[in-house]
Amino acid sequence: MTKYLIEGGHPLHGTIEISGAKNAAVAIIPAALLVDGVCRIENVPQISDVTLILQILRELGADIKTVNRTTVDVDCSHIRNRQVPYELARKIRASYYLVGALLGRFGWAEVPLPGGCNLGGRPIDQHIKGFVAMGAEVDVRNGLIYAQVPGRGCLAGGQVYLDIVSVGATMNIMLAAALAEGMTVIENAAKEPHIVDLANFLNSMGCRVKGAGTDVIRIFGRDYLHGANYTVIPDQIETGTLMIAAAATHGDVELTGCIPTHMEALSAKLLEMGARVTESDDTLRVRGTLCGYRGVNIKTQVYPGFPTDLQQPMSALLCTAVGTSTVVENIFETRFRHLAEMERMGARVRIYEQTAVIEGVPQLHGAAVEATDLRAGAALVIAGLAARGTTEISQIQFIERGYEDLVGKLRAVGADIQMVDVPVEAAENEAQIS
Ligand code: UD1
Repeated sequence: MTKYLIEGGHPLHGTIEISGAKNAAVAIIPAALLVDGVCRIENVPQISDVTLILQILRELGADIKTVNRTTVDVDCSHIRNRQVPYELARKIRASYYLVGALLGRFGWAEVPLPGGCNLGGRPIDQHIKGFVAMGAEVDVRNGLIYAQVPGRGCLAGGQVYLDIVSVGATMNIMLAAALAEGMTVIENAAKEPHIVDLANFLNSMGCRVKGAGTDVIRIFGRDYLHGANYTVIPDQIETGTLMIAAAATHGDVELTGCIPTHMEALSAKLLEMGARVTESDDTLRVRGTLCGYRGVNIKTQVYPGFPTDLQQPMSALLCTAVGTSTVVENIFETRFRHLAEMERMGARVRIYEQTAVIEGVPQLHGAAVEATDLRAGAALVIAGLAARGTTEISQIQFIERGYEDLVGKLRAVGADIQMVDVPVEAAENEAQIS
């Protein structure tokens, strides 16, 4: 079993290069299924979710070549299998994008229900509503999503109003609509940066997507899309996580290759707390303070509001802020499990349904904790970096799903963090004792 071992209390100092965006890459790679030709995708993050989505495409018959560390050529000219393997699909949330892409290209898809982090109920009814509006028949049974276009085999443009703003549904409907006949309109669409990124990729393949980044998106379907070269945007959540880590360790960190305008909700909160945040072009610099951070109130919202994916890392910082902070989680039901772990480190937290009330303590202390999901894991890393003593984080495979070389990047700016292999037997004994 692999764990992270963190010796806390070292301020982070230096420069970190931001990797490509996970949530953009896991939609852009399946989008290559829409093309009978080669798509070169650059700035692909090296994370396990990307490895999995590439592996799924390979199983379907795609030819994938690694050009360099962050660039892949994806050629979906010879797809021979449209049944997505259960064992792979169930491990990753983004496997739902295969429904939109396969349905759009072939008029038929059979995809296991997606996996990913357990954040409470994660329905896909809005995705299905979109496919149905374009003429598909969709059935969910025995853990599989069956979608097909009866008759002529090609989706037709449709109009869909999302009852709830959903990132996944917006992007999935865009994928399906790119080869549909006529125009598809998505109303009440999500506006996250990765939605604009997917739209730009589809446009570079010859599609016409207008309005991405607003709440009405129009996709003018094409008969044919061509291969393209495309560079994935920098990761908004990795940037935010490292900004918070810089503040939590009272460090001074420059993040390069990021998009500061994507970070406004977080930058504003860090400034309100007393950190210094400055930006220029593609760089953000965060300087912490030793004078104590002020507690603040956070409400997660769809973009451009405070992102739910940064709620957990941010609450790690709030655990040592002066006074009381409240965190309202509006997007997912079960996204406070990291706080129970942080209580082991001395955090003082009360949870009332979707609200966490955090009473700041002067100092967290190291403890053995468990990552319960991807961003919970990131939050525990931040808590461990700021704590006094040693923190041991287990279940780090969740963290590796979404952060490229987190250990290497943090070590390069002065963190004392290492990945250690603990023999399974020792880990089991430990579990029995605790
Ligand atoms: C995506 C991201 C995830 C991020 C989340 C919110 C990927 C692979 N995952 O997840 O990292 O935390 O956006 O920014 O990109 N909902 C429905 N019906 C649906 C779809 C969603 O009720 O058909 C609800 C969800 O339960 C949730 C809310 O809508 O309460 C938002 O979910 P959504 O934006 O779809 O998140 P994901 O696409 O699952």
